[in-house]
Amino acid sequence: MKFFVDTADINDIRDLASTGLLDGVTTNPSLIMKAGKAFIPLIEEICSVVSGPVSAEVASTDYETMLKEGKKLAKIAKNVAVKVPLTPAGLKVCKALSDEGTMVNVTLCFSASQAILAAKAGAAFISPFVGRLDDIGADGLNLIADIVEIYNNYDDWNTEVLVASVRHPIHIVESAKIGAHVVTCPPDVIKKLYSHPLTDKGLAAFVEDWKKTGQSIL
Ligand code: E4P
Repeated sequence: MKFFVDTADINDIRDLASTGLLDGVTTNPSLIMKAGKAFIPLIEEICSVVSGPVSAEVASTDYETMLKEGKKLAKIAKNVAVKVPLTPAGLKVCKALSDEGTMVNVTLCFSASQAILAAKAGAAFISPFVGRLDDIGADGLNLIADIVEIYNNYDDWNTEVLVASVRHPIHIVESAKIGAHVVTCPPDVIKKLYSHPLTDKGLAAFVEDWKKTGQSIL
């Protein structure tokens, strides 16, 4: 399973890239607003830090303008994945850009029927939002299972299921059990994956006991 980070904070991205575990980045207009930096140079900078796919989202909603924006974003770097909303116009842009060889991430997916359309439009990634579905009392992970099952029925569909709106480690563990291709997680959720109180307790005891041996490895 690939790990993307869902942020536009360049310091967090650099920090996570240094672990060697980061496969890509997703951004959206809200994350760009939070970062408070100029969009195009920021995407350029992120693409220079991470060699995997970096999602940059169009800002318009009509076909012509979205297509122009998508083409401009795709020119920033080879690893840009143009992010478009799951609307009729967004899927039309997805088809046009995908046919030209540009990676497209179709975002704001909340149903299996929408995911089928994105695959047919040639999307490189479909982004179902698990946390936002959980928030309204639906089952986000159930949607991931449905989409993975459907996509597995068709060898000619190459769309990867990118689990988005991840809120906690269980979303990641369950997505891995289902067989989702990618998870995109806020930095704090990625950090939580490392944690276990028994790891901390066990390490503290080992460090103390090692001191008592009076030895040094180096
Ligand atoms: C995905 O690409 C989105 O940027 C993101 O996962 C949305 O998450 P949120 O529901 O926490 O805003």
